[in-house]
Amino acid sequence: MSGRPDADAVVRAAVAVLDRNWTGSHTLPATGLYPHQWSWDSAFIAMGLRHRSPERAEQELESLLAGQWADGRIPQIVYDPRRDDDYAPGATFWRSDELPGTPSVPTAGLVQPPNHAWAAWEVYRADPDADRAADFARRVYPPLVAWHDYLTGRRTLGRSPLACVVHPWESGMDNSPLWDEALARLPDTPRHKVDRLDLRHASAGERPSAKEYGRFFWLAEQYRDGDCQDRDDLPFLLEDPTVNTLLARSELALAELARVVGADPGPHREHHEEVTDALDALFEPALGLHVARDVTTGALVRRATVSGLTPLLLPRLPRATTLVATALGPRFLGGGALMVPSYDVTAADFDAGQYWRGPAWFNMTWLVAHGLRLHGEPGTADRLEQNLRDLALEHDFPEYVDPATGAPHGTRKFSWTAAMAIDVAVRQATS
Ligand code: SER
Repeated sequence: MSGRPDADAVVRAAVAVLDRNWTGSHTLPATGLYPHQWSWDSAFIAMGLRHRSPERAEQELESLLAGQWADGRIPQIVYDPRRDDDYAPGATFWRSDELPGTPSVPTAGLVQPPNHAWAAWEVYRADPDADRAADFARRVYPPLVAWHDYLTGRRTLGRSPLACVVHPWESGMDNSPLWDEALARLPDTPRHKVDRLDLRHASAGERPSAKEYGRFFWLAEQYRDGDCQDRDDLPFLLEDPTVNTLLARSELALAELARVVGADPGPHREHHEEVTDALDALFEPALGLHVARDVTTGALVRRATVSGLTPLLLPRLPRATTLVATALGPRFLGGGALMVPSYDVTAADFDAGQYWRGPAWFNMTWLVAHGLRLHGEPGTADRLEQNLRDLALEHDFPEYVDPATGAPHGTRKFSWTAAMAIDVAVRQATS
């Protein structure tokens, strides 16, 4: 006996977290810190929920799709108007109802990484009720295609097939070092009062700084005041590895869903190839991984972050061997990290407890473990997943952990941590 908790214990505790955070139509990422529905969180949550209740996983994704705009964007946040005093910026900041082509529910104008079609495909496959699953596929395929069309039609603003983020929040990795230089060019003085409601639920040392928040609000204000239109002169415009990797990965899933619903999978496969090829422009040989490209300056942002390891999720990635070596090397796992650090542990400004500037996140570790398994490192993938589920249970499903010690940070009972733990434990138990 190893003394590790068994899979049942992990699943039981993780399901209790998802039940607690379930509103009846979707799952809150965390009841205090994040009291609305978040876009890429819901897709990760569905990946875990599918093992327990495919029906609820379907509802999770469709409740998010109810917030889709006429232009195809799936918003970063679908707000619960009853909780508008509990999170900033709230629905009253975005005023989405004043714009044409917006849904009846209030939403943010920004987006998040496109992991949804991938999640929808996995949920479809997990549903034992074939009729229900087929109906689900038929309902979600068109809006998911529209979502990808938005990213490729309106967000390829850098003269490449890669989609841009127009705000750090869109990357899901708010204060990643990848955004430092671009943010430094912006004012940190929004007109809107910066309410740090997040600091009621996590300590200041674990969250983005006051200066970063000033810039986040200023930038969000600019985008909102431009009616959330995507233009190539926006003040923040970067191509991010994870956004585009998930787009390419999700195109493979759309190809599968297309087959199910009787549509043509060909264009999805072609787009998958095109984005995979285009990602090569983000490869930084000196660091041995992908980085962001600042479209405003044309320059690569030379920082090694976990975002740059996620292209490993792509089956025919030309740089896979180098990326595996970088993941296993001193910047990430070489020093014995338990999970994948969000930032280069050898960097002078690495901080093991500070949001996206060092801690290991459960979703990112899950993604990188998938990629390592795909590219011939099953032993490392197994070890990372074992640590992921054990640390999740041991620390009450924390938002992120110190990669070296596993010490918990951020909020607790965090939904995607629970969902990733369920997925790992169920796969372990059935393999
Ligand atoms: N991650 C953001 C926050 O911390 C929202 O997307 O509030």
